[in-house]
Amino acid sequence: MDMQIDWANLPFGYFPTDYNIRCEFRDGKWGPIEVSQSDTINIHMAATSLHYGQELFEGLKAFRGVDGKIRIFRLEENAKRLIESAKGILMEPVPIELFKEMCIKAVKLNERFIPPYGSGASLYIRPLEIGLSPRIGVKEADEYLFIIMVTPVGPYFKGGFKNTNICIMRDFDRVAPHGTGRWKVGGNYAASLGAGHKAHEMGYSAVLYLDPKEKKYLDECGPANFYAIKDGKYITPKSDSILPSITNMSLMTLARDMGIEVEQRHIAVEELADCSEAAACGTAAVCSPIGEIDDIDTGTKYILSKDGKPGPVTTKLYNALNAIRLGETPDIYGWNTIVE
Ligand code: PLP
Ligand code: COI
Repeated sequence: MDMQIDWANLPFGYFPTDYNIRCEFRDGKWGPIEVSQSDTINIHMAATSLHYGQELFEGLKAFRGVDGKIRIFRLEENAKRLIESAKGILMEPVPIELFKEMCIKAVKLNERFIPPYGSGASLYIRPLEIGLSPRIGVKEADEYLFIIMVTPVGPYFKGGFKNTNICIMRDFDRVAPHGTGRWKVGGNYAASLGAGHKAHEMGYSAVLYLDPKEKKYLDECGPANFYAIKDGKYITPKSDSILPSITNMSLMTLARDMGIEVEQRHIAVEELADCSEAAACGTAAVCSPIGEIDDIDTGTKYILSKDGKPGPVTTKLYNALNAIRLGETPDIYGWNTIVE
């Protein structure tokens, strides 16, 4: 079928593709892998996913490389993180091999939706698991559905690799101190909608959350981790209430390889005054440079860019990460899975 997609101007949104891949856990075991052409699901109205938030997801990307090959970035890490999320809210963990096989199948079958090399776009892979069993009492399900859907996407923040401003709003938390923040579960995102909406209305691209216990330290940035450059060092929050970002983990490795010292620690809000760069990092965000951070309730404005342009360290990291994902530089850590 002929298809005309404006690859260079794709938003970060849902674009229908040909197939999704499904697998159900019933009677204590995962069943066969199924290929579906339907973009709807038919589930019981009392399913635990609908009533009690037994839902988790993942996010990773596939790229068309400079050599024409298809690469999925850090497939195994996402599989491992899903298992942590599943244990966190008593869902059935998806075996790593099953996760990988289903992702690869989804990418292969939807190959025509993988954006071409050089377009700046990618194929976003969204694994989703939901509890199916009907429950009225608050109790976990014993039947689950795992789906891999894929959709071609452009940049998460408008304009691509450009500075945007973010804000701190002290009367909003997205998670509790020992809550679900370290897992990728839908409830965290529902809890962030109100603050996110308010921030967008005020012209900010995201909310920078503080630690929910003391409100002293930086946590994470909407649907992404946060890092800053201070005295030439890469500093990023250490916290139990943030998602362990695979992009952040990769950037820390790349930064060290560039001779940049990395510190993962508590970062007091006021330290932002001494930082020369900052960025939101994640699969969707890649590393999105931040121009200014406004602490709405205190009125403090932290300026993270002097000339309105992405800083040198973030630019270097962004380019290094992309070069690996696109097969332009050797993948010395084996982060890519080549889909054949
Ligand atoms: N933090 C949150 C809340 C996220 O939703 C994401 C997105 O996945 C991240 C951080 C970044 O994680 P990753 O780099 O693994 O995509
Ligand atoms: C991702 O970066 O993969 C995410 O999951 C962010 C998403 C919630 C938009």
